[in-house]
Amino acid sequence: MKKTLDQLLAGHGASTLAGRTVAVRVDFNVPLSDGRITDTIRIDRALATLERLSEARCRTVLLSHLGRPDGAPDPEFSLRPVANYLSERGRFPTHFCPQPSGSDVDAAVADLAEGDVLLLENTRFLEGETANDPALGQAWAAWADHFVTDAFGTAHRAHASTHALPAAIKAKGGQAVAGYLMERELRYLGAALTTPERPFVAVLGGAKITGKIEVIESLLPKADALLIGGAMANTFFAALGLETGTSLVEADKTELARDLLTRGGTKLVLPVDVVCADRIDPGAETRVADRSRVEATEAIGDVGPDTRALFREHLMGAGTVVWNGPMGVFEMPPFAAGTIAMAEAAADASKAGTTVIVGGGDSAAAAEAAGVADEITHISTGGGASLEFLAGRTLPGVEILSEADAEA
Ligand code: 3PG
Repeated sequence: MKKTLDQLLAGHGASTLAGRTVAVRVDFNVPLSDGRITDTIRIDRALATLERLSEARCRTVLLSHLGRPDGAPDPEFSLRPVANYLSERGRFPTHFCPQPSGSDVDAAVADLAEGDVLLLENTRFLEGETANDPALGQAWAAWADHFVTDAFGTAHRAHASTHALPAAIKAKGGQAVAGYLMERELRYLGAALTTPERPFVAVLGGAKITGKIEVIESLLPKADALLIGGAMANTFFAALGLETGTSLVEADKTELARDLLTRGGTKLVLPVDVVCADRIDPGAETRVADRSRVEATEAIGDVGPDTRALFREHLMGAGTVVWNGPMGVFEMPPFAAGTIAMAEAAADASKAGTTVIVGGGDSAAAAEAAGVADEITHISTGGGASLEFLAGRTLPGVEILSEADAEA
C-alpha cells in the first residue's frame, strides 16, 4: 500500500506540516478553446487535496504539464488560464510563476506564505521533463520537503515531475504520498482488478483492438463477461467471417481476434446488431441491421438497439462494471445512440448499487454528454493511465510513492 496524504499529515502529529513546502504533481492537462478551459474536472477533483494542504498551513507548489509542447516554451500551452481558474475556485490564495524552473521559481517559492498555493508554468516547457532528468528532479526537490501526487492521468509517464522529483525528495528524507484524487482512483480501479464484486462485467469500446489488447488479456481471466463495442467489434466480426463492408477493420488483428474468441468463449459478448450507413458522416442516412446482414457497400458506425438492451441487461445484473471506450462514432449524431445508451445504463446500474467505473477520455465525455456523469460511481480522470492500470501494468508515478509502513 502506498502512503497517503492523511497518513503524512497524521505522521507529523504535533510537529505539524505548517510552514513546510510541499511539491504537488497534478494533471492539469485540460482541454482549452480560445484560452478557456472546456472541461475542469481534473482541476475540480484536485481541489480537496489543495484545500487540505492549505488548511494544514503548508506552502504548496503545483507542477503540471499541458499538451505536448516539446521541451520549449509555447504560449499556446501556458497554464495561466488554469491559474486564473484556481484563483476563482480554490479556497486558498493562488499565485502563478510564468517559469517552470530556475531562479524565478526559487524566488516565488521563497515568497510563499503558509497556506498559499503556487502554480508553476508548464513542466513540458523544459527538455528534461519527458526525459525524466534526475538533475531537474533535484533542482525542484531543493525547495520541497515532501511530495504529493494527484496526477493519476499522468501516472503512466516516468517524467521528471512524476518520477525524478519524488525520487529526489525521498532521497533527502522526505515523503512521496498519494493525494485524495490519486487515492480514490487507486481504490476504485485497484478493487475492480483484485476484489471485484461479482458478476464483474467489463465493457470495452473504441476504434482499435491494438490499443486495448493488453486490457482484454488482463481482464478476460478476471471478468465474468467482457462486452465489446465500437469499431473494435468489427475486427471480431471479420474474424467470424461476417461481412463488414467498408467498416474500419484491423485486418492484421483478425487472427488475434479469433484466438480471443476461442479463449473467451461465452464470456466475450459481441454486438448482435449494428447501425450502418453508406458512409460514416454526420449527415449519413442510417439503418439498423443484424450483424450478419451488413452490405458490402456499408460501414458500421454504432451498436444497434438489441445490443444496447443486451449490454444494459449485463450492466444491471453486475456487481462491478468497468467501461472504457465508446460503442460507436459518438461524436456524430447518427452514430451516438449506442454510447449514450451505455452511459445511461452505467448511471442506472450505479443507482441500483453496482460499482461502475468509467475509464477517462471518450467514455467520460460520453457520460458528460448524456448528462449522467454525476450519477456514476467513479469516473476516472485518467484516459491512458486507467487503460494501463487495467492492463495490469505498473504505473511509474504510483510505484515511486513511499510505502505506507515506511514511517512509524
Ligand atoms: C492525458 O491527458 O492522458 C495525460 O495528461 C497524459 O498526457 P500525455 O499523453 O501527453 O502524456
